[in-house]
Amino acid sequence: MADLSTNLAGIKSPNPFWVASGPPSNTGYQAHRAFEAGWGGVVWKTIGEPIVNVASRYSALNHGPARIVGFNNIELISDRSPETNFREIAEVKRRWPHHAVIASLMVETRAQWHEFVRRATDAGADGIELNFGCPHGMCERGLGSAIGQQPAVAEKITGWVMETATIPVIVKLTPNVTDITAVARAARRAGANAISLITTITSITNVNLDPFVPEPTVAGRSSHGGYCGPAVKPIALNMVQSCAADAAVGLPISGIGGIANWRDAAEFIALGATGIQVCTAIMHYGFRIVEDMHEGLSAYLDSKGMTSVTELIGRAAPTLQKWETLDLHWQRVARIDYDKCIGCNLCYIACEDGAHQCIDLKTPEELGLGLGPGRVPHKPVPKVRENDCVGCNLCSLVCPVDDCVKMTVIENGRPPMSWSNYQERLAAGEMQPIAPHP
Ligand SMILES: Cc1cc2nc3c(=O)[nH]c(=O)nc-3n(C[C@H](O)[C@H](O)[C@H](O)COP(=O)(O)O)c2cc1C
Ligand code: SF4
Ligand code: SF4
Repeated sequence: MADLSTNLAGIKSPNPFWVASGPPSNTGYQAHRAFEAGWGGVVWKTIGEPIVNVASRYSALNHGPARIVGFNNIELISDRSPETNFREIAEVKRRWPHHAVIASLMVETRAQWHEFVRRATDAGADGIELNFGCPHGMCERGLGSAIGQQPAVAEKITGWVMETATIPVIVKLTPNVTDITAVARAARRAGANAISLITTITSITNVNLDPFVPEPTVAGRSSHGGYCGPAVKPIALNMVQSCAADAAVGLPISGIGGIANWRDAAEFIALGATGIQVCTAIMHYGFRIVEDMHEGLSAYLDSKGMTSVTELIGRAAPTLQKWETLDLHWQRVARIDYDKCIGCNLCYIACEDGAHQCIDLKTPEELGLGLGPGRVPHKPVPKVRENDCVGCNLCSLVCPVDDCVKMTVIENGRPPMSWSNYQERLAAGEMQPIAPHP
């Protein structure tokens, strides 16, 4: 069985699965439950000067029957005292010496950063995460994303922390920026040992149209929140890859954002993360989701002949390149498996109204097909005109039946040619411009 243990900038963990800073990591009781369930690390709910929270705090985006495809919160950092939090960290560390316990911190002055770093270290934390990400409430006070949005400020404060830190320091980045690598580079310049990303994305999930107030509602008002959960995974993957691919960043990465199962975790690791963190999926389903993560990742690594999770780190990274390097001559077309097709014609509508008008409707008799599920005499079914299909994937994405529309590679005999090659050959007079589509 593959070795799942990880080492993120010197922080050792029995597996890559950590509980992210948030409600599931608020107390020692929860940290014990998390480790008992199988999590390898816990990043404590951010500790700082005590704050006061509001009710309510959460709202969600549902989609059809799917609950919480996106999650929004206006919660602040820990509302428990630093004394309580550091005492519980020490207790948890005593009981779980081989698991990772990270103290997430957010304070204001240089003296406070020094003091809180010392207290976290004295409590036995394995590392410190600097919360430069929270995009609501705390940023109005000049903290959280107010720091993470300004590379110079993030660099200065990380520098304060590094003056006194004797355990690894992870800088947690906000996605509420144009270029995530700018702050990641600043963290590197200041001497941070690792980065984690993403925190939440500034959001309004929905507006209650009766009292005309967005959710979550607090006595007839609301406030911008932070968005997370499955909907943010593509944004998080993109930012993790951007940092992983940037040589000027060059720091180990703890990937966060929308992770709910082993496959999500494996994708972050394949794009360059050393380990991952989860918040929303635990709030939705509980700590036990980590069991599937263990089993799934182990089985996957075994099936690929990998002996450790380390071998997976960055495996997909080299395949992500600039658009100009992609092969313009590579051709795929949609082919329908009529043994599976239920005749809903969603693909036809999508291609007709949203793509390239290259699916015709034909009767089963015209196509020489037998009858079957969704196929009755004279009722039209889709037929792709392969010569006109541009291989955009839309029909396969809308088709409700798995593997019914197969995107099939066509060998066209044309040698690979990227946009860059094309421009070079045009400039050298070696070829004529490709004719535009009619
Ligand atoms: C209710 C809530 C509270 C959170 N509180 C914190 C916090 O105190 N400190 C922090 O660094 N991140 C906090 N986060 C952000 C999470 O750690 C994580 O970065 C984000 O939710 C994305 O991961 P997810 O999609 O798995 O939830 C919070 C998230 C939620 C939903
Ligand atoms: S969407 Fe899929 S199932 Fe529906 S008609 Fe098209 S190929 Fe058949
Ligand atoms: S791949 Fe795109 S262009 Fe081709 S049939 Fe499907 S929707 Fe139409």
